[in-house]
Amino acid sequence: MTEKVFRFLRDVAPATPCLVVDVDRVAENYGRLKAAMPLARVYYAVKANPAAPILNRLVDLGSCFDAASLEEVKMCLAQGAKPESISFGNTVKKESAIRAAYAAGVRMFAFDSEPELLKLARSAPGSKVYCRILVGNLGAEWPLSKKFGCEVDMARELMIQARDLGLDPYGISFHVGSQQTRTAAYEAAIARVAMLFTDLKDAGIQLRMANLGGGYPVRYRTEVPEIDDFGAAIMGAMVEHFGNALPEILVEPGRFIVGDAGVLSAEVVLVSRKERDDPVRWVYLDIGRFGGLAETEGEAIKYRFRTPHDGGAEGPVTIAGPTCDSTDTLYEKSNYRLPMALDCGDRVELLSTGAYVTTYASQNFNGFRPLAEHYI
Ligand SMILES: Cc1ncc(COP(=O)(O)O)c(C=O)c1O
Repeated sequence: MTEKVFRFLRDVAPATPCLVVDVDRVAENYGRLKAAMPLARVYYAVKANPAAPILNRLVDLGSCFDAASLEEVKMCLAQGAKPESISFGNTVKKESAIRAAYAAGVRMFAFDSEPELLKLARSAPGSKVYCRILVGNLGAEWPLSKKFGCEVDMARELMIQARDLGLDPYGISFHVGSQQTRTAAYEAAIARVAMLFTDLKDAGIQLRMANLGGGYPVRYRTEVPEIDDFGAAIMGAMVEHFGNALPEILVEPGRFIVGDAGVLSAEVVLVSRKERDDPVRWVYLDIGRFGGLAETEGEAIKYRFRTPHDGGAEGPVTIAGPTCDSTDTLYEKSNYRLPMALDCGDRVELLSTGAYVTTYASQNFNGFRPLAEHYI
């Protein structure tokens, strides 16, 4: 937690549950990423946290943006982003959204299938297009599975078709899965991209861009490699495969830019046991899976907790949200331990919750209002 967030929580004590984000920390993270990969152009993945103060600060820093929807395109434009700094990166788009983004000046689009390519040819003529390929997600704590991307052979054919349709076959993208903990995942994916560059060159198409996606991790309960380690591995692989003919390099970080800038402040609603001598206490918070902690699904993302009793004796706990839905149980199997002194009414903090929380919050499920947000 940054000093600024600590002081805000102490002095203002905002009503819980709420997320407090230090926008200066967002700027620092952007700078750290740029320093680790000086040759890469950063397209912030807006979906991680689309709050206006974040987009606004990133516009000032010269960031570009990866938008998942027309609405995200509009959010970026509203904060002063130039349309040419926006990539419409979702490979599944309504044609009306493509048309509207094109009319707003967006000229870079992702695709991973022929029907999507045909939509782009019709509704975004002449645009730069890049094909997303499937790559391994091993090592990712929040994998993206097979939902997006296509096999390399198909990507090769589609890029040729893109040229024939009058589009600009710009490059190739991939995503190694979010909260990726292995630098090797990028190295393997870059090798696949390089193969495609060679194959397409033989077919008369000179690709110009490699989009390395997001995935750069944040420290939750366990240590992760530093961003410099990812930068070194990525640049090493790029030079190994492309030599001194490096293409334009794009990265689409989301979690890394905003994750550790945010702290979620919550209240303990109940501490109880299922039997009098049960060693495991159930700790119910005023925030849960439906309040925005969707990434606790499968106990995938394991947030760190801070309590007023840290340092005292601890015992095992199951941690749950406030709604009457049994899936609103955050951690049951991940061996969480919290102080024995923890009691109803205590305020606790969930650290590094700046990414993928606010926009996941449900609209009044069980009557609970969506998470409040403070950008400081
Ligand atoms: C196309 C695309 N780019 C970038 C990201 C951001 O990933 P991360 O937050 O892991 O950096 C995502 C996340 O789902 C994505 O789908």
